[in-house]
Amino acid sequence: MKPIQVGLLGIGTVGSGVFKVLRRNQEEIRRRAGRGIEITMVADLDVARAVEIVGEGVAVVSDARQVIANPAIDIVVELIGGYGIAKTLVLEAIAAGKHVVTANKALLAVHGSEIFAAAQRQGVMVAFEAAVAGGIPIIKALREGLTANRIEWIAGIINGTTNFILSEMRDKGLDFAAVLKEAQRLGYAEADPTFDIEGVDAAHKVTLMSAIAFGIPVQFDKAYIEGITRLAATDIQYAEQLGYRIKLLGITKRADKGIELRVHPSLVPAARLIANVEGAMNAVMVQGDAVGTTLYYGKGAGSEPTASAVIADLVDIARLHTADPEHRVPHLAFQPHTLDAAMD
Ligand code: HSE
Repeated sequence: MKPIQVGLLGIGTVGSGVFKVLRRNQEEIRRRAGRGIEITMVADLDVARAVEIVGEGVAVVSDARQVIANPAIDIVVELIGGYGIAKTLVLEAIAAGKHVVTANKALLAVHGSEIFAAAQRQGVMVAFEAAVAGGIPIIKALREGLTANRIEWIAGIINGTTNFILSEMRDKGLDFAAVLKEAQRLGYAEADPTFDIEGVDAAHKVTLMSAIAFGIPVQFDKAYIEGITRLAATDIQYAEQLGYRIKLLGITKRADKGIELRVHPSLVPAARLIANVEGAMNAVMVQGDAVGTTLYYGKGAGSEPTASAVIADLVDIARLHTADPEHRVPHLAFQPHTLDAAMD
């Protein structure tokens, strides 16, 4: 069977990781997908740099619309980020009948309902494993591994930048501002780290997990969000003396009147596994009625960890694209269950 053809929009850190991992593990991935997965076209404003990354045999263009207009492309991978042009291109790709894979949690948390509805109308998939907790396959765990469960709650460290900052404040007794500079120097925090430190990035991610776990629409605007900017080293030391660690948690849970959705610094008993997640790592706990508590730990960002999640989605789509349409599970990659809950 001919390989499935992929077009990448944006080839920065994650895009180059996707290339590297697809090349390195080509044979295993082909076997698992049931067919080859080939990136045949890349759009990036910096064409020269993109050519350097992808080498011979891949068409590189500066105009993303050329990728979307190419009838040979089956899947468009959006790695541009943000709500602006990324939204327009994703909707155009869907309208052109392409499946979409994206790592763009901000886009889906804010415009997910519109995007998923468009995909459903077109009969294409929008897959986003890489949007939440990077390399940790938490979307698949919620959708597949835990599918027999009534999910009670999810609580996670889902922003590596803030977890690094909190770990350093505790270990070195430094204040927030000093550690933020260090995080920026090490490349953990963005040049404009507002979304990280104000809890917005974590809220995007927990909004997506909540939609899948509870079958509710994506409702980022309903989330309570508080970041870590007001924490001092002394807060962390006092918490420590009382036997707690302060962690920025994204939490979603069933409540009397619907579903809670919140991000805020939390006191976690020091003996808990999740309290000992240090540095830029991520961890997500999920409580299901049948399975009990489960914990997922790993790298929440970075080139190859995020590529690992993007490629998992490509393999999923390759499998479904290959399957007899009669027996295909519709929209498996994004469809929340029935709307069985509502938020306050
Ligand atoms: N800024 C994010 C983090 C990157 O620090 O976790 C991955 O989403």
